[in-house]
Parts: sequence; structure tokens; C-alpha cells
Amino acid sequence: MSLGFQPLRFGEGFQRTDLVTVSAGDIHVYGFSLDIAEAEVSRASRILSDEERTRADCLVSESHRHQFVAGHAGLRLILSRYCGAPPHGLAIQKSVKGKPFLPNYPLVRFNLTHSHGRAIIAVAKDREVGVDLEKIRPEVDVLGLAKRFLSDRDITFIESGGPGQHHQRFLQAWVAREAVFKAAGTGLTFPLHGDHFELASRGVDGRLILGDGKADGAIRFVRLLPLDLGWVGAVAADGQDWNVVLCNTS
Ligand SMILES: CC(C)(COP(=O)(O)OP(=O)(O)OC[C@H]1O[C@@H](n2cnc3c(N)ncnc32)[C@H](O)[C@@H]1OP(=O)(O)O)[C@@H](O)C(=O)NCCC(=O)NCCS
Repeated sequence: MSLGFQPLRFGEGFQRTDLVTVSAGDIHVYGFSLDIAEAEVSRASRILSDEERTRADCLVSESHRHQFVAGHAGLRLILSRYCGAPPHGLAIQKSVKGKPFLPNYPLVRFNLTHSHGRAIIAVAKDREVGVDLEKIRPEVDVLGLAKRFLSDRDITFIESGGPGQHHQRFLQAWVAREAVFKAAGTGLTFPLHGDHFELASRGVDGRLILGDGKADGAIRFVRLLPLDLGWVGAVAADGQDWNVVLCNTS
């Protein structure tokens, strides 16, 4: 089963009975489309904070503006179910490096990614989490990028898949890094070629090995997400003892 990307609906408002809990060993993952109907945009916009509305207003392209509104209102809608508070009332702050967090609900950890009209949100309990989504672009010279940015072991991983899998494997190594560094809150930290990605035979469980993997915390666990053809995404979280649960947005 692959993760769904239906548009969210913002008309129903918040109901207190919506409270959802995530257990300590699970990471809840939601996908949704950022392409929402015109009528939904103004309803979604009402959920945003003043700062988010200002960010949206700065976007010149109308479709980017609408997608920003959909992504951030969607984030608020989903988080409100875990916090038991109305979406517009949630205080979302950012760390020095930009990672958003909920100061009033410290156990609810989350991360957002958006790409080409789609968004994914991961929610965890008391465990830092990061998520990344990328769309495969066949025109991109991924071997050239890998040689420039990734490690020799990543290049071997990418090339061993055969030419038909180069883009997918490059993005697997890439989203794994993004997810790990987003979980850590640092964002991508260059250079990237000292680390490498390993994928277990099942094709889902991965590990990002930092340096030679010998230091404390140098092995980070990643799960690749089941997505439609043409998309690659990953979740990373602290520790190893966690599972991804695909959740329905409705
Ligand atoms: C911040 C960063 C992780 C975003 O990654 P991306 O693939 O462009 O975008 P994604 O859609 O996956 O993620 C964006 C979301 O991640 C979240 N985010 C932002 N900073 C974050 C951080 N430091 N850690 C975790 N999450 C972060 C936000 O929710 C953001 O959404 P918003 O911009 O709509 O508010 C990425 O730009 C980065 O690594 N930046 C730092 C390194 C850098 O800028 N290098 C420049 C070249 S050297």
C-alpha cells in the first residue's frame, strides 16, 4: 500500500473528540496534496498564524502561495488532533536552525516536507523526527551530482542498481540524509561525502552511516516510504525501536 495524497478539507472546523495519540514506538505519517480548491484557500488561510500569512503573502506565484497555505494549514490541522487544541491556536516556534516545534506540547514532535504539490507530515511522541520527499526528475544528471556531493560508497550503491534505478537510488541516498539532518534539526550539513547510505535487502529499512560509523550516534536509522512511482521519501527518527504507521488524513 502506498501513502495517499488526497487534498485536505478545511471547512469542518475543529472538534475536541478528534484527539489522536501516537505511541512511543510509532511514527505517524500523513500525505496530502497541496493543490486545493479555490474555496478551500480562504478557509485554510484563517487557520494560519500572522507570521505564516505574512510568509504566504511574500510568495509571488499564486500557486506557490496556495500551496504554502495548504501545507501550513494542513500541518496545523493534523497537529491539532494530537494536541487537542484548535489548529489556529497552536503556537509553533522555530529552533535557531529553523526546525519548527510546539513549545506547549513538548511530547508531540513533528516534521514537514513538501515537494511539487505534495506534502508529508511525520508525528512522533517524545522522539525527534525528520521527513523528506523528492520527485524523480529524469532530466537531472544524478551520477554527476552523486560524484560532486556524495561518497564513493553511495556512488557504488547508485551504480549497482543499473541505469534504470540511478535516479531512485540517488534520491534514496539523498532523502535519507535530509530526513536524518531534519530530525537532528540541523538541515543538510555539507560536505555530505563523508557519510554513506545503506539499504537493507527488503528495500525499506536504511541506515545513514556518519563517517566511519564508529562514533556514538554515528548510525542513524531511516525508513523509505511506500510512494507512487516517481517519488522517493524517507523518515528518520532518534533510536532504532520505531515503526512507520501510514495514516489517513480524513
Ligand atoms: C531546511 C531544509 C532542511 C529544508 O529542506 P527542503 O528539502 O528544501 O524542504 P522540505 O520541504 O523537505 O522541508 C521544509 C520544511 O522543513 C522544516 N524545517 C525548516 N528548517 C528545518 C530544520 N533546520 N530542521 C528540520 N526541519 C526544518 C520546515 O517545516 C520547512 O517548511 P517551511 O519552509 O514551509 O516552513 C534545507 O533547506 C536545509 O537543509 N537547509 C540547511 C542547509 C542549507 O541551507 N544549505 C545550503 C547549501 S550549503
